[in-house]
Amino acid sequence: MQGKNAVITGGARGIGESIARLLAKMGANIVIWDVLEDQAKATAGAIASAFGVKTAGQAADVTSGDSVEAAVAAAVAGLGGIDILINNAGITRDGLLIRMKEEDWDKVLAINLKGVWQCTKSVGRVMLKARRGAIVNIASVVGVMGNAGQANYSASKAGVIGLTKTSAKEFASRGIRVNAVAPGFIRTAMTDKLTDEQRKRMLDLIPLGQLGTPEDVADAAVFLASDAARYITGQTINVCGGMLM
Ligand SMILES: NC(=O)c1ccc[n+]([C@@H]2O[C@H](COP(=O)([O-])OP(=O)(O)OC[C@H]3O[C@@H](n4cnc5c(N)ncnc54)[C@H](O)[C@@H]3O)[C@@H](O)[C@H]2O)c1
Repeated sequence: MQGKNAVITGGARGIGESIARLLAKMGANIVIWDVLEDQAKATAGAIASAFGVKTAGQAADVTSGDSVEAAVAAAVAGLGGIDILINNAGITRDGLLIRMKEEDWDKVLAINLKGVWQCTKSVGRVMLKARRGAIVNIASVVGVMGNAGQANYSASKAGVIGLTKTSAKEFASRGIRVNAVAPGFIRTAMTDKLTDEQRKRMLDLIPLGQLGTPEDVADAAVFLASDAARYITGQTINVCGGMLM
């Protein structure tokens, strides 16, 4: 990772921040793109102080082509290139399918799925020119298993897994690998909202008997982004305590 340049979308906090920290610990320079500009800059600053690598935190909305193109130009101008892209930005807007509002369907699909396509397209151009790169998409086990109350979210994450395979096939001959990590239930702001009852029902489904941590996801994502995974592309690693086998 020494001297490589990594972009992490939605890296201001949560799983994205953990991935950024681990990449920095291994020597990579870090660019965080997030709609939370102040938090992106604060996290980037904290990572620079902790690990002594170059970092930048930038306002970027993954659903906007113009915003992503501007962020790519800034990253390339600042660091000279992009070697690693972690497509992590994602949201939930849960509700039963028949009651789900159209705007909640559209918003989740726009950020979780279109956003991955947009960033892959814009950063992919830089990687294609350099003829090297690694892309890791953060999917979810519910993209494979489904989950009542998450029609929009599970569809978006199933889409991410399909998009991962297509990007892997299109980019392989140019030295670019594309893989996904599908987390199960991970302790973050997203899962802190759960009631004790919901948490208990969830734990009953997990053979390893506990929620995962953002660091558990980061370990798998950084492995896939590294040269240790040089012969792996188009794959999805489930980081879920065995909930999906
Ligand atoms: N927490 C879990 O249990 C869990 C499980 C499976 C998958 N995931 C996935 O992991 C990823 C990270 O989730 P998290 O739990 O850390 O959530 P989080 O809400 O803590 O972090 C998501 C980040 O994405 C940013 N973001 C939202 N919309 C954006 C946009 N349009 N452009 C740029 N950035 C945007 C947010 O500001 C935030 O910083 C998501 O893709 C999520 O679906 C999480």
